[in-house]
Amino acid sequence: MDWLQGFLHGTLEELELARLKRQLTPLIPVGPVRALWEGREVVLFCSNNYLGLTHDPRVIARAQEALTKYGAGSGAARLVSGHTPLHQALEEALARFKGAARALLFPTGYTANIAVLSALVGRHDIVFCDRLCHASLLDGVLLSGAKLVRFQHNDPVSLRRLLAAHPGRRRFVVTEGVFSMDGDMAPLRELVALAEEFSLVVVVDDAHGTGTVGPGGRGVLAAQGISPEKVILTGTLSKALGSLGGFVAGPAVLIEYLTNRARPFIFTTALPPASVASAIAAIEILEAEPELVERLAENARLMREGLTALGISVPGETPILPLILGTPEKARRAQEYLLARGYYVPAIRPPTVPPGTARLRITVSAAHTKEEIAGFLAALREALAAA
Ligand SMILES: Cc1ncc(COP(=O)(O)O)c(C=O)c1O
Repeated sequence: MDWLQGFLHGTLEELELARLKRQLTPLIPVGPVRALWEGREVVLFCSNNYLGLTHDPRVIARAQEALTKYGAGSGAARLVSGHTPLHQALEEALARFKGAARALLFPTGYTANIAVLSALVGRHDIVFCDRLCHASLLDGVLLSGAKLVRFQHNDPVSLRRLLAAHPGRRRFVVTEGVFSMDGDMAPLRELVALAEEFSLVVVVDDAHGTGTVGPGGRGVLAAQGISPEKVILTGTLSKALGSLGGFVAGPAVLIEYLTNRARPFIFTTALPPASVASAIAAIEILEAEPELVERLAENARLMREGLTALGISVPGETPILPLILGTPEKARRAQEYLLARGYYVPAIRPPTVPPGTARLRITVSAAHTKEEIAGFLAALREALAAA
């Protein structure tokens, strides 16, 4: 075992030297965008709780009701005895919300991505992935054994060139809808047009678009006027919807296939009833109160304008606003400065983002007040002046 000890210590020391070592920081939430850090209240500008639904009393009440009625856990996989009317109702609500024929739940967004790619793609296939795709999409491709070809970020011209260089019978294009670390949207119309021209299957991960963009927060497809039939859609319940879990939305035959073939669906326990019930409540709230998404858009606009006034241009319209600082040290210094002033935005460093692009990934929520956003911008102005 000496070699293992050497390997573990050696790796951690290397990470420490490169300022890339990660550590867990306990936070006690005291609201959708506030938490206690080392006993001090801080305002979060980093969470994916875009609509503040984690703390909506209606969501919490539905989770409590499900907990009392159905118990703490599901007890088994969906295909064994873990499938309840709640799971079915959530799949129906997701399909309705996304305008798809059907939807299927997974334990997380991560596993939904792995499931789709590993179940649909084989080792003789080719997958063209946007360079900035999330780890779960890349892991799904790796698991499938297919050839992975990465095209330039959001660049259909680069994709077209690579399609010509890599012919094949079964080819897939994989992208995020709203990119998690950059906040920009994929050019889905162009990607879908290429897919039609070359008979490609398009997989879109709408983890950060669900609840944040498009009419009523229906996501990137709705935002760009693309029919759900054109792509396979994946997503998560853990960001704007404030719960836990992942999903795939698409035609009935795809859902039937995944139910029979997707190992991360078959060989794992069904989501806990409380998480399922809170996601149903979140979707119902979104359907009844589209103004929640408008409030988020207004807060994103305020933050974007504030950043522009500081000389930081973040084009787009999503609630993810990257402030790229370059080195991990610079990003850490900005993080510490802001934390000392009561704002919590952890530095995002490689390998989560490419080398040389360490950043503060600033996110806004519908639950932020205008005063919180103004206070954060004032602190950021000082942090940048001090850097
Ligand atoms: C683009 C993207 N896809 C998938 C996931 C995974 O979602 P979940 O947290 O539900 O596993 C994330 C979250 O980190 C993400 O940013």
